[in-house]
Amino acid sequence: MSNTILAIESSCDDTSIAIIHNDAILVNKVASQSIHEKYGGIVPEVASRQHLVNIVPLLDVALKEANLMMRDLDAIAVTRGPGLLGSLLVGVSFAKALALSLKIPLIEVNHMQAHVLAHFIDSPAPSLPFLCLTVSGGHTQIVLIKDSLEMEVIGQTRDDAAGEAYDKSGKMLGLPYPAGPLIDKKAQLGKPIFQFPEPQVEGLDFSFSGLKTAIRYFLRDAIKVNPNFVDENLNDICASIQDRINTILVNKIISAAKKTGISEIAIAGGVSANSGLRSLMTSTAHEHGWKLYIPQFQYCTDNAAMIAQAALFKYQKGEFAGLDIKPEARLAI
Ligand code: KG4
Ligand code: ZN
Repeated sequence: MSNTILAIESSCDDTSIAIIHNDAILVNKVASQSIHEKYGGIVPEVASRQHLVNIVPLLDVALKEANLMMRDLDAIAVTRGPGLLGSLLVGVSFAKALALSLKIPLIEVNHMQAHVLAHFIDSPAPSLPFLCLTVSGGHTQIVLIKDSLEMEVIGQTRDDAAGEAYDKSGKMLGLPYPAGPLIDKKAQLGKPIFQFPEPQVEGLDFSFSGLKTAIRYFLRDAIKVNPNFVDENLNDICASIQDRINTILVNKIISAAKKTGISEIAIAGGVSANSGLRSLMTSTAHEHGWKLYIPQFQYCTDNAAMIAQAALFKYQKGEFAGLDIKPEARLAI
């Protein structure tokens, strides 16, 4: 069965449109919103207004690049949640309007499932069942994938997400939002010489709020002694923060692999773009005999290609949505 699915992602601060034909991504366009930098974090109202500005031009560019007309599309897919309600509303309303006017099916996609399913865009895909450490700005989860659309969260954060830990630490260091990629860059020039505590959380759950407090007090005390401490040691501080966040993540996925006996391991989400996490996961995989799957950079952070891939699985199963679907800020996998 041939198919051409146009997918829309607008759950947070990136507007993205992708088109998948059969199982190949023809185009994956992302419009990022740098406007939030000056606020030190995402302003939801501003994000939804930016999606409105971006979405129509993005559709035009995507169709042009894929050399397609609207009438060539077989289905429209969209992220229904989780995410910022106002942002989701733009994508969902736009998708409904397209599906209705083109008289083609609508497919709703769970953003967190899509991060995991990004692994099926490129081959070789992980063999089922596999574990995925999904680390983004809003979520930190260990997911057990039993089938393409059958997943179970077996561990998650009790407070901040890993991406939030990066962004909030960066804010304390005076770095602009989102600080994750900047910490990554600076960490590559430094050494993890400062020690931050590893939280003791039972089972497979995570906690990052204690680390945030530890970093705040550490900086406060160090600045009392040397007001230029941050400027003089920025690379080493970044390397130390990155090292601790990543060891927290990797120690939990080691526990999850032991507990489930699964050795097909994947990482996904914005933080999986972190070079330190990618290399720590690679050395850990060697040590534990895992088969490791790391997505291409463009499929780590928010993108519509992963939405298209998830939609393809639903299309193949005939799982379509009604035009009465509503976006959900909180949506379980
Ligand atoms: O998955 P994503 O693009 O959006 C959400 O669904 O949240 O993840 C965004 C998060 C931000 O917190 C950002 O700082 C973090 O991913 N991030 C990184 C890196 N690239 C993006 N964190 C650490 N190192 C990176 N290279
Ligand atoms: Zn995401």
